[in-house]
Amino acid sequence: MASSYSEVYGAWKDDPEAFWARAAEEIAWFRPPERVFDPDRGVYGHWYTGGETNTCFNCLDRQVAEGRADQTALIYDSPVTGVIEHWTYGAILEEVVALAAVYRDLGIGKGDRLIIYMPMIPQAAFAMLAAARIGAVHSVVFGGFAANELATRISDSQAKLIVSASCGIEAGRVIAYKPLLDAAIDISAHKPDHCIVFQRERLQADLRSDRDIDFASAVGEAKRKGAEVPCTPVLATDPLYVLYTSGTIGQPKGVVRDNGGHMVALKWSMQNFFGVKAGEVFWAASDIGWVVGHSYIVYGPLLNGSTSILYEGKPIGTPDAGAYWRVIEQHGVTKLFTAPTAFRAIRKEDPQGELIANYDLSAFKALFLAGERADPDTVAWAETKLGVPVIDNWWQTETGWPVAGNPIGLGLLPVKYGSAAVPLPGYDVQVLDDAGHPVTAGVLGNVVIKLPLPPGCLPTFWNAEERFREGCLAEFPGYYRTADAGYIDEDGYIFIMSRTDDIINVAGHRLSTGSMEEICASHADVAECAVIGIADPIKGQIPAGFLVINANVSRETTDIEKEVVALVRNRLGPVAAFKTAICVKRLPKTRSGKILRGTMQKIADRESWKMPATIDDPAVLEEISLALKARGIGD
Ligand code: COA
Ligand code: AMP
Repeated sequence: MASSYSEVYGAWKDDPEAFWARAAEEIAWFRPPERVFDPDRGVYGHWYTGGETNTCFNCLDRQVAEGRADQTALIYDSPVTGVIEHWTYGAILEEVVALAAVYRDLGIGKGDRLIIYMPMIPQAAFAMLAAARIGAVHSVVFGGFAANELATRISDSQAKLIVSASCGIEAGRVIAYKPLLDAAIDISAHKPDHCIVFQRERLQADLRSDRDIDFASAVGEAKRKGAEVPCTPVLATDPLYVLYTSGTIGQPKGVVRDNGGHMVALKWSMQNFFGVKAGEVFWAASDIGWVVGHSYIVYGPLLNGSTSILYEGKPIGTPDAGAYWRVIEQHGVTKLFTAPTAFRAIRKEDPQGELIANYDLSAFKALFLAGERADPDTVAWAETKLGVPVIDNWWQTETGWPVAGNPIGLGLLPVKYGSAAVPLPGYDVQVLDDAGHPVTAGVLGNVVIKLPLPPGCLPTFWNAEERFREGCLAEFPGYYRTADAGYIDEDGYIFIMSRTDDIINVAGHRLSTGSMEEICASHADVAECAVIGIADPIKGQIPAGFLVINANVSRETTDIEKEVVALVRNRLGPVAAFKTAICVKRLPKTRSGKILRGTMQKIADRESWKMPATIDDPAVLEEISLALKARGIGD
């Protein structure tokens, strides 16, 4: 099929409002928008002002009304528990109405925040949809984060309620959530009124009578009472959720997602980018704690009347590197979306892709990769072994849906390895130098998006509008700064190469080295420190911390290193994969005192590097190099 991309992108460029007005017809509105875009509202304008709708209505009630009551909406496939469940649109609606009644009876209403701290179980998706139903604002916190991170989110969102579970199940390990939850509430200055806890068979939690509520009993009771909870009309511009993501240094930032633009953008992307139809089985192998999980495990597929897979397992080890192929065959998955790191892990275990031959993948049509740069080697391997197009797509928590990618729904364009292909309608992507001037094709620079951002992208940060302006819009007036560095080639293909801030990407997870440094520095014996991301063949990057110990400390440095590793795991969470801490005498610095993290990283990654002209003492880099070599890192 010849691609209609150029015409579609051109139509958007010629008349963005007409384009997004047409796309909005795919959504059911209680009251149609007065304006498609109002440039005078919000920080850079608001989409669909005056419109009233409800996201849960569009995901469930509408699908049921249109005849999908008995169609499977969600397949829960959990190799870690051996459970597979099929949930129809009708059955989910029943659960969600009951849970919404529980929320309502606890005094949760429109605009109230609730935190969802849950593993990959269907009840996590129900918890999100029930919040949407009553106009409450959910904030999902990834299970791999520690109590401290959860506390930050409780306190920033001022959540009235937390929905959680007794445990998460990782391959070979059960993680008790309740102690983490209780610890987070203890730390947080703000205390939620209640916690609803879903008890899992594997590990039951002790519930506190003054605060905790058993999920199943409460939902069961609401069902017995025949509770009815209609969808609360919300403005298109009202928040649906806040998702915290690593910000530059320190506090995570709460990315706000609205209701109207979000639905329009997701539905457009399901059909035109992913090329998925109603009834088709789509699998985003991510976690509901990340933006990919929000957009393409829960909301996108349901808005589209598709069937989504909620997979509680890993690409390897549950039980082997054939797990993905088993799921694809068993459930008739047509399109899979995951992070390149998953494929690197699979390839390491099964380099020849021999396990693929054990499964019938005839229904499988395309693989989408995002979350980190899809290295050409991994793309080529997947393409050869699976025999389907492999589509790199680039986006961020802030945008909520792909900024760039090869739009299979519009017809594939030629593939260029290492590139996330072309900008999607809504996005005018440009590359600017540090002074804000456009660079020529092929030249590396700051990747920016011309304002306004399209529907679905963040309108602001939660309670931090100034931070949004300062951090994202101030540096390049008229543009949104993505904090990614890259280039656009002469054919308009976008290549995203690295970040321009302190964020590193560990197994597709976005983490701030600044927050890790804060934690390392909080150890009593650490005088100063630097954390860098070093190349890892599976996870893309892993963090490594360099510690300078206080002069008066005479303890074994190996003990301090172990304590710092444990500290980061306990404060930030296991997901940081912080396993390397190295005590050094000094850190390399410029004469003005800036730590030369970039040069340290190049040494660790065995890249060529030049002695920085501004270095204070060149001998320090030799010391760093030796310290890395002693750990088998760098040359
Ligand atoms: N709850 C609690 N702990 C969790 C967790 C969760 N939801 N998710 C991960 N962790 C823990 C892991 O158990 C691991 O702990 P360990 O240090 O004790 O082993 C640690 O956090 C790091 O986890 P992870 O990054 O998942 O690494 P891994 O070595 O267990 O697995 C991969 C590596 C590549 C298989 C894995 O990262 C993966 O499947 N990635 C898929 C891509 C993905 O989901 N990307 C998200 C964005 S699309
Ligand atoms: P997150 O907000 O967690 O989704 O992380 C977003 C960041 O991940 C982006 O700003 C990029 O740095 C990186 N990223 C995501 N997808 C890609 C991709 N396809 N290619 C390169 N980098 C990517």
